[in-house]
Amino acid sequence: MRRKLAAGNWKMNGTSADLAQIEALATAHTGALSEILIAPPTTLLHRAADIAKNGPITFGAQDCHKRESGAHTGDVSAAMLLDAGATYVILGHSERRADHDEHDEDVRAKARAALAAGLRVIICMGEELEEREADNTLDIIGGQLAGSIPDDVSGENLVVAYEPIWAIGTGKVPSVAQISEVHNFIRARLEQRFGPKIARAIRLLYGGSVKPTNAAEIFAIANVDGALVGGASLKADDFSPIINALDAS
Ligand code: PGA
Repeated sequence: MRRKLAAGNWKMNGTSADLAQIEALATAHTGALSEILIAPPTTLLHRAADIAKNGPITFGAQDCHKRESGAHTGDVSAAMLLDAGATYVILGHSERRADHDEHDEDVRAKARAALAAGLRVIICMGEELEEREADNTLDIIGGQLAGSIPDDVSGENLVVAYEPIWAIGTGKVPSVAQISEVHNFIRARLEQRFGPKIARAIRLLYGGSVKPTNAAEIFAIANVDGALVGGASLKADDFSPIINALDAS
């Protein structure tokens, strides 16, 4: 069975004072059934992983470079993230696709580098509002799946996050039927490409305005194996009830 995953993406938020949130989470969820992941800003990764070691939280980064090392000022390689305490890296988030002009082929190259370094990857995809309104959601997701995910995944080392762009940070959430349709579609496409054994081991997260108030309803949907949470992962008091809802699902 797939282990549920509650992943918090802190984005460009957090300084030393916020490490207290991680300590609070670690204390509150020592017996968590779900896997708990925090992706703090890179500047906090090492310290976060250090203060929470031997606890229930695993750590991730929010991006990596596609090359192993070299003359790439300001960039961070997958091996550096692993060395700093990450076991996961989030790739292809819509904010990176928009802010840094990242396309599917960039995401795929980064994913290959991350997997080669021994990280697990969380690959994000999602449609714009206009694309949903034009009834193009499944085409868009199908293209992102085919383009962003490399061939050599084992199942356990890949997580796919469906994040409709119009739901991120907006308080708007797709209906249960809409989430269900996309998640079933993703699972079916993964089965076609990788075969049932690998596809069934890949966890599918929903992301976009997940809150304590809507988490239980989202986690009850088949093929939703957890959530990628932005705003509501910044404070332990908000993220804790989401983890509890996932544990109870
Ligand atoms: P949000 O962000 O929970 O703040 O909507 C989700 C994400 O971008 O991963």
